[in-house]
Amino acid sequence: MDFTSPAGPNPIDRQIAVGRATSRVDGPLKVTGTAPYAYERHDVAPRQAYGYVVGSSIPKGRVTGIDTAAAKAAPGVVGIITTLDYKPAEPPARQAANLFGGDEISHYHQAVALVVAETFEQARAAAQLVDVRYDKSAGRFDLAAEAAAAKPAVDINEGEDAKIYDRLGDFDAAFAAAPVQVDASYTTPHQTHAMIEPHASIAAWQDGKLTVWTSTQMVGWTRTGLAKILGLPEPDVRIVSPFIGGGFGGKLYLRADALLAAYAAKALDRPVKVTLQRPLIINNGTHRSATIQRIRLGAGRDGRLTAIGHVGVSGNLPGGAPEAAVAPTKLLYAAPNRDMYLTLAELDLGEANDMRAPGEAPGLMALEMAMDELAEKLGMDPVELRILNDTQTDPRDPNRTFSERHLVECLRTGAERFGWSRRNPKPGSVRDGKWLVGMGVAAGIRLNLLMPSAARIRLESDGTLTVETDMTDIGTGSYTILAQTAAEMMGVPVEAVTVRLGDSAFPNAAGSGGQWGANNATSGLYAACVKLREAVATTFGMRGNDVDFSGGMVTAGGRSVPLAEAARAGPLVGQDGIAYGDLDKTYVQATFAGQFAEVGVDGFTGEVRMRRMLQVVDAGRVLNPLTARSQVIGAMTMGVGGALMEALAVDSRYGLFINHDLGGYEVPVHADIPHQEVIFLDYPDSVSSPMKAKGIGEIGLCGAAAAVANAVYNATGVRVRDYPITLDRHLDHLPTVS
Ligand code: MOS
Repeated sequence: MDFTSPAGPNPIDRQIAVGRATSRVDGPLKVTGTAPYAYERHDVAPRQAYGYVVGSSIPKGRVTGIDTAAAKAAPGVVGIITTLDYKPAEPPARQAANLFGGDEISHYHQAVALVVAETFEQARAAAQLVDVRYDKSAGRFDLAAEAAAAKPAVDINEGEDAKIYDRLGDFDAAFAAAPVQVDASYTTPHQTHAMIEPHASIAAWQDGKLTVWTSTQMVGWTRTGLAKILGLPEPDVRIVSPFIGGGFGGKLYLRADALLAAYAAKALDRPVKVTLQRPLIINNGTHRSATIQRIRLGAGRDGRLTAIGHVGVSGNLPGGAPEAAVAPTKLLYAAPNRDMYLTLAELDLGEANDMRAPGEAPGLMALEMAMDELAEKLGMDPVELRILNDTQTDPRDPNRTFSERHLVECLRTGAERFGWSRRNPKPGSVRDGKWLVGMGVAAGIRLNLLMPSAARIRLESDGTLTVETDMTDIGTGSYTILAQTAAEMMGVPVEAVTVRLGDSAFPNAAGSGGQWGANNATSGLYAACVKLREAVATTFGMRGNDVDFSGGMVTAGGRSVPLAEAARAGPLVGQDGIAYGDLDKTYVQATFAGQFAEVGVDGFTGEVRMRRMLQVVDAGRVLNPLTARSQVIGAMTMGVGGALMEALAVDSRYGLFINHDLGGYEVPVHADIPHQEVIFLDYPDSVSSPMKAKGIGEIGLCGAAAAVANAVYNATGVRVRDYPITLDRHLDHLPTVS
């Protein structure tokens, strides 16, 4: 189905199944521990051996030799493959690191060997006996030190609206002439995804064909990347990934676990499973790069922005992509004079790549703090400042409107529901016992990305429906919204639909990333359902568009037949996909949020405690308010992590992230946030897709950290521009409490 003009009325508008708060259809599997995660699939291939990855202990240089004799002689060892046995793997599209092969080391914990044994413990013990000799060379690990040598960053992959280069008008003159100015620098640290389930893969070969049971957000990308490195035709590689314990962008790409399992399974002629131990997730996998951002805002005394400047630098391995922190600034506020660009510094810290709301998350941490600073200089309410500078068109092209944009309503509704009028604008002036109390606000924007996506739906002889697509569910609720979509289109209860995901043998879907999964995958299934409806109508000799599917019945021209009858002679199949035209070029498609936070800061110790959070979200039609709310609450929680806790610490002597475990890399838990609320505005977006939905998985993070940071400032009067805001950063400057 080509989606080239805005959707008219369609069966989804009925919202009998779609739009209803529906518990996860995969919930029982999750809570009974029977959802099959990659590492635990002991049943899928016989004689699985365990691989343990040996990571490089230097960050840069060459491997001069590997002595495996002692390890090979250790109990239970089946075999060992080393990086010297293989050619360097050409990084797949959108990736930068060599996952395995050759003697060159480009980052700490790069895989240099895989020890395979009968048990995990045997493999781990033997791995300690592998003797790797290195010729170490100097590396670059400090973003600030390398920033001067940074080069203009190349474009990233998300289309025109995500390009990171934007110049309009005469920024320098307008900024210089502005009566009110903010000019400040902000830093965000390296971050790791910290998903619960580690990367894990089981590989098995049969007749020259490879099957990998793995944990990936993108079945198609993983298959393409693996097939290319292995020199196989894509159909000879099957990727199976039905359940994923979180990804946050860390599992968008092929990683060493899958490649090493495939290599070792081939070399040893038996199935091999490999997981990345937590330190390797952090130093061998991908991370979000630190950023240094300078923001200059020029405004009239009325608060209207005349100039926006946002420049930033991030780091990566040579050939890697930038953290597009300036991207959201292009579309969030009007201002006739603009100067935005990003540079990229080479760092030898492993591959920087996408992490939830790539670009927007760190970019809005800076921009939305700068807006708070501007509001204070203006003596203006920060909610009103944002509303005044709202834009309904692309600032670069006044003829290009947003498909739907209700940021102002997000902010107004949020202010009212949060009790914003009770905020004291004078920082450091509200006390609750020993606590300094403050409120903060921020705006959020995140693009709605369109990706082709396909699915198949089968009406079984017993009248039930089976959906098959290689879409993934990374804990987000894909199974459930796909079941709801099929139920709505075919007029059956959700319970009559079985959804099978994450197998490259099924039609190729958008996958889970960039908050594009839900809207695109359900739209692909919508297209498949249209095909099945046609097949059913033809079977019944019904014609035209007036065939109604509801309550398990198919009705046309006064005649009603049970849907199940259509499959009496055998299953009926509908298969199709959604493909998009240029509606994302004609319109800006994005999602919006108003973020509100209240914190207490311990007046004696400087510790920050969340008191409550509220977010109002404008993201098109909400397919399932229950799972959508969970997405937003999870993202807000991640925002608290970004504001107050999360930071990978670089050990620049040895060139690694030294807090490479969940003890040292802190993320918030339930107990850290006593109250969170989410409100969805209801503006179906007919430009986005036939579902009229938009992305929801990342908008919740966009601006969330800045709202917390602004609340901390309102509580203390101490402006900390370096994230995370740990107590040491403001303790010496706190107002006196007694
Ligand atoms: Mo998202 S960073 O594309 O999983």
